[in-house]
Amino acid sequence: MSDPTAPDPIPEDAARTALAKRGERLTTLSFAVSIFGALALAVVYWRGGQPQLEGIFLCLALGGLGVGMIVWARYFMPHGTDVEARHQIESTEEEIDAFREEFERGEHILTRRSLLVRMGTAAVAALGVALIFPIRSLGPRPGKGFKSTPYRKGIRLVTDDGTLIKADDVSVDGVITAFPEGHTDAADASTLLIRPNEPVQARPGRESWTPGNLVAYSKLCTHVGCPVGLYQAGVHLLLCPCHQSTFDVLDGARPIFGPAARSLPQLPIEVDGEGYIVARGDFSGPTGPGFWDRDR
Ligand code: FES
Repeated sequence: MSDPTAPDPIPEDAARTALAKRGERLTTLSFAVSIFGALALAVVYWRGGQPQLEGIFLCLALGGLGVGMIVWARYFMPHGTDVEARHQIESTEEEIDAFREEFERGEHILTRRSLLVRMGTAAVAALGVALIFPIRSLGPRPGKGFKSTPYRKGIRLVTDDGTLIKADDVSVDGVITAFPEGHTDAADASTLLIRPNEPVQARPGRESWTPGNLVAYSKLCTHVGCPVGLYQAGVHLLLCPCHQSTFDVLDGARPIFGPAARSLPQLPIEVDGEGYIVARGDFSGPTGPGFWDRDR
């Protein structure tokens, strides 16, 4: 009568080889599916993304990798419980040799180990490539966009409908919103042209920036970027309606009240031979709210 606790007889080499081939095929197929899923995920993401497809391909990439590793372990790693008598802690040379032989041989005969290693490595690498692409979701590189506007020396100022602005168009106590010619959609270049009824106190180096007492400031509040649209001509103050930051027009648009901590950047302007208002360069500083404590 046979002992029910006895280990299963070791399959003959032919049968073990057949099982090993099966394991290799399954592992290779799984890693191939993973590679396909990862590369497809990268392509879908690169072409603009599609959430359902991205989910499917991510599932294939991770699932294929996981199944491949499970199949590998199932077919080619040693199984079963090893029991060792307590009185003999150290393995004999024969036992070590036997273990090494069994470990290297695995449960079944692994004939294409290098192929499976390469496929597994490729699957992990492909998944790594696919995971690089979501970096694009962080948005475009800001470049110099935070620090400059389309204003350049010689660019004329226009209204939001593209009409050129002459110096005479701005009356005393008057305000006009202006943009650089050809860039009326550049929100960061939105400009207030103001002609106060008292002389502007030009800051050092800006004495020539206010022809005919005409001064130009960025319209973007330096707090969080609301348009500073309210001009109180009687007291020469610009008021931001969002959080009531108030800027002194005669003193370089210095904030005198509210949360804004930085003056409105000033645009250097001049009047050309035909009477049109022309920029002499870009604003005196970045327009809009501060970022990363840039003034510190
Ligand atoms: S955005 Fe102007 S005060 Fe806050």
